[in-house]
Amino acid sequence: MSFSNEWEQRYAENTHLSVWPWSDVVSLTRRHCRDLGAHSRVLELGCGAGANIPFFQALGVDYYAIEGSPTIAAKLRERLPQLASNIVTGDFTQPWDFAPGFDLVIDRASLTCNGGQAIRRCLRQVYDALRPGGFFIGVDWYSTLHSDYALGEEGEDRYTRKAFTTGSFANTGNVHFSDQAHLRELFGDFQLLALEEKQSQRHEPADHHRFASWLLVARKPLG
Ligand SMILES: C[S@@+](CC[C@H](N)C(=O)[O-])C[C@H]1O[C@@H](n2cnc3c(N)ncnc32)[C@H](O)[C@@H]1O
Repeated sequence: MSFSNEWEQRYAENTHLSVWPWSDVVSLTRRHCRDLGAHSRVLELGCGAGANIPFFQALGVDYYAIEGSPTIAAKLRERLPQLASNIVTGDFTQPWDFAPGFDLVIDRASLTCNGGQAIRRCLRQVYDALRPGGFFIGVDWYSTLHSDYALGEEGEDRYTRKAFTTGSFANTGNVHFSDQAHLRELFGDFQLLALEEKQSQRHEPADHHRFASWLLVARKPLG
């Protein structure tokens, strides 16, 4: 089990409830997966409060999700009864029951809540679940340049930190950070179509906090 129960606790307290689609999810999907439509299948890893669902509904795709928190998954099934059987409660780093052949697997800041071994296990499963030519889009894979990489305690490997008590990762379990070499190694079986590092520095409040995360688009080779 890699899913951290701290996420369940955060949702039970009604926190971390993002409900508007993330702009990077929208722009990367539109730029790289232009053919997505009624014939397409999309799987979201860790859908949380369902922020990205309205966007995929607007595209008319068959949307599926796997989410570790029973509380938030139940709320989503109640809010979106038409998707109730497609939103599964479970740990996406463990074997799942979805039929393969997905056109897109989308992950915004969810795989990064896990340690290195679990991430590798999940990416193998993602690879097998994609159709040849299918896409993986990763948004907000935190960078080792993020200020908070220095916080918390060292986890199972040098990229994983845990036990944050301050900052935006406080009380959310593991957080995995990446540099470019690590991402290229993790996605070695995929074709990397896009790899960008976003950075922003805060000047007010004047704590010079740096947000840094990776955006990536990877494709399962055709042949
Ligand atoms: C930062 S939130 C992002 C939620 C959503 N993707 C979004 O962009 O609004 C991370 C989500 O991943 C889920 N999660 C983390 N690790 C998981 C795992 N191993 N299996 C299933 N869900 C997991 C958490 O419960 C949480 O809902």
